[in-house]
Amino acid sequence: MTSTLIQVSHFSYRYNQESEVALKNVHLEVAAGEFVAMIGANGSGKSTLCNALVGLIPNYFVGYSEGRITVDGKDTASVSVGELSQTIGLVFQNPFNQLSYTADTVAEELAYGLGNRGVPRDEMFSKIKKIAELMQIDELLDKNPLELSGGQVQRVALASAIILEPKILVLDECTTQLDPIGSEQIMDIIKKLNESGITIVMVDHDMERVAELADKVYVLQHGSIVLGGTPEEVFCSPQLAEFSVSPPDYYEITKNVIQPGYREKDFALTESQAIALLQEVLYEDRNQEPQA
Ligand SMILES: Nc1ncnc2c1ncn2[C@@H]1O[C@H](COP(=O)(O)OP(=O)(O)O)[C@@H](O)[C@H]1O
Ligand SMILES: [Mg+2]
Repeated sequence: MTSTLIQVSHFSYRYNQESEVALKNVHLEVAAGEFVAMIGANGSGKSTLCNALVGLIPNYFVGYSEGRITVDGKDTASVSVGELSQTIGLVFQNPFNQLSYTADTVAEELAYGLGNRGVPRDEMFSKIKKIAELMQIDELLDKNPLELSGGQVQRVALASAIILEPKILVLDECTTQLDPIGSEQIMDIIKKLNESGITIVMVDHDMERVAELADKVYVLQHGSIVLGGTPEEVFCSPQLAEFSVSPPDYYEITKNVIQPGYREKDFALTESQAIALLQEVLYEDRNQEPQA
């Protein structure tokens, strides 16, 4: 039986100084262990939803909200952000906002959240060592966070969230500062974290990645969830273009090559699916008897 870890119930939000709502009647559930992707055009409300999931809305931002969000049974409006952070961690869209910058070194920065939780010193060191290896930031531990490149800050920002071992990790466009190889390394780590049981909510613009990793995809437009389901349900929806979202490239490629009706499933969403499907079709073509 799956248990619901996040329950967003008819949640709406308007930032204090804005006339338009940023979230409109958002309703969704995330089950324990699920990998959920949030997609949609810029300004559609993805970051606002992330802020709401971790309680920064309504506890930190000033605005007006309606509805309710519970995370692991806790109402986000009734508990502190600190208490919620024991369960759910956010990696900010802008990694420069993640770090405290009160620490002189990256190691101290990583120790920051652990110290707040009263983790003993020895345990702290071993956790920092482990996460530094995982995120490939060993070389940076003695550096001042202010000296880091964008990509390095992004790795440290992720490390500072993962080191706290939250049940749920919310990732808001967490590879924007990284090159393709760096992004892929980070995604491998995130995939492994999910396989180890951590629930992931990921905002991303890379549809190939979303199709590869997500169990569920939600599309936001003007603050509303306009589409939701499995990657297949979402990416095959004829409405998708209306929401300024394109399916993964593999979808277009396979759709263009395979004639409609030629197979029951005439499209692929991921690289491995596309290769398998194209090989199958080409092999069949080659072996077909010439028509009389
Ligand atoms: N801190 C903020 N203060 C006021 N308005 C904001 C703030 N953050 C976002 N907004 C507004 O909320 C809407 C949704 O933005 P956002 O959640 O950042 O969307 P996305 O992450 O999908 O690009 C936009 O109209 C944006 O201008
Ligand atoms: Mg955003």
